[in-house]
Amino acid sequence: MKVLTNSNESLLTVEGLRKSYGDVAILDGINFEVNRGEFVCIVGPSGSGKTTLLRSIAGLQAPTSGRTVFEGQEVTEPPAKLAVVFQDYSRSLLPWMSVAENVALPLKGTGSRADIGGRVERALVSVGLSGKGKLYPWQMSGGMQQRAAIARGLAYNPDVLLMDEPFAAVDAQTRVELEDLVLRLRDEYNTTVLFVTHDIDEAVYLADRVLVLSGAPTSVTENIVTELPNPRNQLETKRLERFGEVRERVFTLIQSAKSHASI
Ligand SMILES: Nc1ncnc2c1ncn2[C@@H]1O[C@H](COP(=O)(O)OP(=O)(O)O)[C@@H](O)[C@H]1O
Ligand SMILES: [Mg+2]
Repeated sequence: MKVLTNSNESLLTVEGLRKSYGDVAILDGINFEVNRGEFVCIVGPSGSGKTTLLRSIAGLQAPTSGRTVFEGQEVTEPPAKLAVVFQDYSRSLLPWMSVAENVALPLKGTGSRADIGGRVERALVSVGLSGKGKLYPWQMSGGMQQRAAIARGLAYNPDVLLMDEPFAAVDAQTRVELEDLVLRLRDEYNTTVLFVTHDIDEAVYLADRVLVLSGAPTSVTENIVTELPNPRNQLETKRLERFGEVRERVFTLIQSAKSHASI
């Protein structure tokens, strides 16, 4: 089993985060920590506020109250060492730029042209898009576009990668490939990952730890350490008794969250 270094060091702390839209409370005091090197999945039903939570953590929108502390600093704008990959790849890549230009975009001004070119190439190779840099997003499948969006997130070596249901819009076969890709990249780039999904199997398969959300107004109802061995394998991991146990626990909590949701 892989031993994670510094695994007790808190990288990201979410403290009493609340968010309301008008009179409607969506997030109702969210508290959790993510340690350096961890892969944490947040799972909750549709409409429970997962995107709202991730956008607040990333500094893309202000919470109503509470705060996120990242690397010792309160988040008030998107931190340089934090990258976000969204669900909707068709809107996250700029259609008038090639894939390589899209990946290079956040690297602007961080080094020489040759240096940036090298980092873009490395990121494209890592996600299996070697030699595809000249293509435009609309010339690629959905899975390839999402690989490009992941490459863009990783190319500047973020300390944490936030992912908002990144594989919800791709077919099932592509999805399992991308899940394994993200697990591999997490090791290759030594990145901490906070991954949001409504898919229970995906959450349990990927995570070191699963945070289960209640229905809106939302809080974290349970924190489950998966205790599954690494490296993961789509067939073997999902056959383990422990996988079944965690899956069942999360499923039960989500069913109960849905039936108690007030909106
Ligand atoms: N900008 C907004 N203004 C008003 N309501 C919003 C806004 N964004 C999201 N909501 C509402 O907040 C709730 C949570 O949305 P969201 O965070 O997208 O949930 P999830 O990602 O879990 O599906 C939903 O009821 C949604 O309609
Ligand atoms: Mg969402």
